[in-house]
Order: sequence, then C-alpha cells, then structure tokens
Amino acid sequence: MVDNALQVLFDADRIQHRVFELAKNISRDYAGGSLHLVGVLRGAYPFTRDLSKSLLIPHTVDFISVASYGDGTESSGSIQLRRKLVHPVKGRDVLIVDDIIDTGTTLDWLVEHVQSLEPRSVRTCCFLDKPARRQVPLSANYLGFPIDDLFVVGYGLDYQEKYRELPYISWVSPRTVVT
Ligand code: IMP
Ligand code: MG
Repeated sequence: MVDNALQVLFDADRIQHRVFELAKNISRDYAGGSLHLVGVLRGAYPFTRDLSKSLLIPHTVDFISVASYGDGTESSGSIQLRRKLVHPVKGRDVLIVDDIIDTGTTLDWLVEHVQSLEPRSVRTCCFLDKPARRQVPLSANYLGFPIDDLFVVGYGLDYQEKYRELPYISWVSPRTVVT
C-alpha cells in the first residue's frame, strides 16, 4: 500500500538512469577482470539485480545476509552473519553491493569479512549514503546518491519490513507511518 505520508525522493526513471551510469563506470573499471557482485540481502536485492542487468561485462553474482537493524530506525551496533556466501571469492574482484550506508558499521564489517576470504580485490557500491550519520570513517567506491539524514524506504529499503516493493525511493518519518 502506498502511504500518503511518503514523499518521493527518487522516482523509478531517475533510479534506473543512475544505475545505468554506475554500471557503465563499473564495466569500464573491471574490463578484463574477474568481477563478482556480492549483494547484501534483503535491501540491496533490487539494486543488485538492476546493476547486474546493466553491466556490459561478464560477471557472477552471489548474496550475503547480515543483521544490523532491529525493527526500528536505529542501528543495533553489532553485526550478525545470517546467510553466508555460497560461491568462493578467492582470487575474484569482489564488488559489495548495498542499499545504503548509514553509520557505516555494516559495510565496514562486510569489507573485512570478504577480505578474510582472500579475494583479489574488494570494493563497494552503494545506492544511497547518509554521510551525516557516519560513525565509521568509510565511503563507497561507487555511489548512487548522497542524501540528507532522512529515513528512506522503497527500492529494497524497508521500514519494519514494509515498502521494499516500491519502485521509487521515498522519505518517511516513522511518526507518520500508518501501520
Ligand atoms: P549502517 O550499518 O548503520 O551503515 O546501516 C546500514 C543498514 O541499515 C542498511 O543496509 C539498511 O538495511 C539500514 N538502513 C539505514 N538507513 C536506512 C534508511 O533510511 N531506510 C531503511 N534502511 C536503512
Ligand atoms: Mg542493508
């Protein structure tokens, strides 16, 4: 259900256009390499799928799942591995694909985790970034859009497991969400 309290930040066309630009840059940078996308479930599922479809070079895709958020809008601070990688990454050029960087805790943990599996290289691609919220000093190698300190939903992002299916990204104040 689409909530009237949601304000569209990026519509579907803008999202797809930006994904295409990122895919073009990634295809150029990894030409001749051994690109392996690691999408972070569940939030980065639509982004990983769209990015993979738009890449102009051969690549493989795997998914990992970690838990960092409870049901609310604040990070729990600790990361738990929920679903490990299926395919080996040793010797591969891994690109971790995530939905959003908030405090940076999740991405920092993921980079370290993948690095421990001895890939040839590890880089990151995130669709959104909230730099004002950062607690761990890192940034994505490829970024869709920086945004202000807003809680956003849609295009994979959820609020209490809702709104992931929206084809656009909206910002929402938890106080105004109709449950
Ligand atoms: P971090 O570890 O604090 O950087 O949090 C990253 C994760 O928190 C993301 O992968 C999302 O799952 C979740 N998250 C952070 N900000 C938002 C938001 O605005 N909307 C929905 N999920 C968010
Ligand atoms: Mg996530």
